Amino acid sequence: MSAVAEVCRHPDAATLAADAAARVEAALAAAVAARGRASIALAGGSTPRALYARLAAARAGAIAWDRVDVYFGDERAVPPDDAASNFRMARETLLRHVPVPRDQVHRIEGERPADDAARRYAEIVAAALPLDVVLLGMGDDGHTASLFPATADLDPGPPVIVTTSPVAPATRISLALGAINRARAVIFLVAGAGKAARLAEVFAQRRAGAPTLPAARVAPTDGTLTWLVDDAAAAQLDAEGAPR
Ligand code: 6PG
Repeated sequence: MSAVAEVCRHPDAATLAADAAARVEAALAAAVAARGRASIALAGGSTPRALYARLAAARAGAIAWDRVDVYFGDERAVPPDDAASNFRMARETLLRHVPVPRDQVHRIEGERPADDAARRYAEIVAAALPLDVVLLGMGDDGHTASLFPATADLDPGPPVIVTTSPVAPATRISLALGAINRARAVIFLVAGAGKAARLAEVFAQRRAGAPTLPAARVAPTDGTLTWLVDDAAAAQLDAEGAPR
């Protein structure tokens, strides 16, 4: 594993979100200071909602949104106003509340045929790599973004791939592992008792140097890897983050 992970445990999802917001603000500010621009790929699912609400409520100027390009780690193959859309969730919790220019929000067009959406998004995101921040969640099966254990193409290839989820909506468009591992900073947000067993398995795979689960295979080549977990999700890890 090229990336030594930092594991930060929090008593609950709220303090996890507060820590995540501080880290995102710092990473984006550092990118703007270094390169005049910053880029972030948002995660889908439910865990990031608390983080996005904090970013939306941050003091004006905490993030130079006019310098930030917003991408998405993955999307379901649904229209942007569909209840299952990751873009819709991000728009409702964050994007409509901050002054990020519309042309700097790079939505995965889930309403298009998936191969077409993936090809169009790949052209956009390829020009943006390495992303400064990639936010990720982890499913209780060890998936991350829309890279599922059964996803065949976890090796280097196009930056964006079409995958199949065992949970509807089945068709997904996802950043590929190679694009994720080029990030300058990857931050996992994992909360809830339902993730505890799989998180321990992911950490055991990483420690053994034999990662097979997608979440275990996230190992930024040159970037940082941070796991923000709550105590419930970390229940099967010891104080050092090793599986009990
Ligand atoms: C998605 C996400 C997915 C999510 C995990 C965890 O499209 O659903 O990309 O990878 O991060 O399934 O989801 P929760 O945060 O809801 O547990």
